[in-house]
Amino acid sequence: MKIFTTRQEVAQYFTHKTGKTVGFVPTMGALHNGHISLIKQAQQVCNEVVCSIFVNPTQFNDPKDLEKYPRPIAADIAMLEQAGCDILFNPSVSEIYDDNEKWHLDIGRLEHLLEGEFRPGHYQGVMQVVNKLFNIVKPDMAFFGQKDYQQFMVISKMVNLMQMPVKLIMCPIERETDGLAMSSRNIHLTADDRQHALILSKALSWVKANFNTESIPALQQHAKNMINAEPGIGLEYFEIADGDTLLPANADTKKNVALVAARAGKTRLIDNMLII
Ligand code: PAF
Repeated sequence: MKIFTTRQEVAQYFTHKTGKTVGFVPTMGALHNGHISLIKQAQQVCNEVVCSIFVNPTQFNDPKDLEKYPRPIAADIAMLEQAGCDILFNPSVSEIYDDNEKWHLDIGRLEHLLEGEFRPGHYQGVMQVVNKLFNIVKPDMAFFGQKDYQQFMVISKMVNLMQMPVKLIMCPIERETDGLAMSSRNIHLTADDRQHALILSKALSWVKANFNTESIPALQQHAKNMINAEPGIGLEYFEIADGDTLLPANADTKKNVALVAARAGKTRLIDNMLII
């Protein structure tokens, strides 16, 4: 695997490469099998796969969260080598951002719903970095996990608004055998937190299994009650939304998605499930 740390190295590498389909998996590192499944999906449809590892400071609204974000770069490189990834782009913060850089893209309500309400400014940071990474790597296709469902919608909106020539692919959530959605943040969970955190996927599965038996408000309330009854879990939101807009779903919604965010001990987790 080639490892590049500067924009110039990436640009130079791709200068003479024509006719190859480039797949891109942007990450913040602390890789797990969810990330590796994105690499594998990219390998199936692209000639060359680039992964980036960059802990993006502009998407953290809590400086403590940024500070404690895991950065096991040696283990990440070993996993990427093992997965047969072709290129790792691992830039420094100054390679990506100028000092005092200001950047804003108005994507309307989508930015402020759900995650946006609890993490103000988060999606501006995500759009900043993904925009820059797309301009550096110039991928034909980019692969993102469904776990960050709203992030995928935000990036799609940005790509459409800016007419970027990249196809976005949403890949299924990878789960541990007990149902916990894989996440880089799971390493912060204590054994007790981890056990309690299972209520999130259980509540989502319950909603999916009972979708046609109760009204949306009743399903939502039942799921909230399940989560609130679990010790050590602080629920932020549980919403059944329209999968195309993320506005609250109603009886006529065709593509429903249930989304949840909660703290398990000190660790913030998100998860979701499509109900089609
Ligand atoms: O999903 C993530 O890991 C990040 O939000 C992303 C897309 C790599 C941007 O920093």
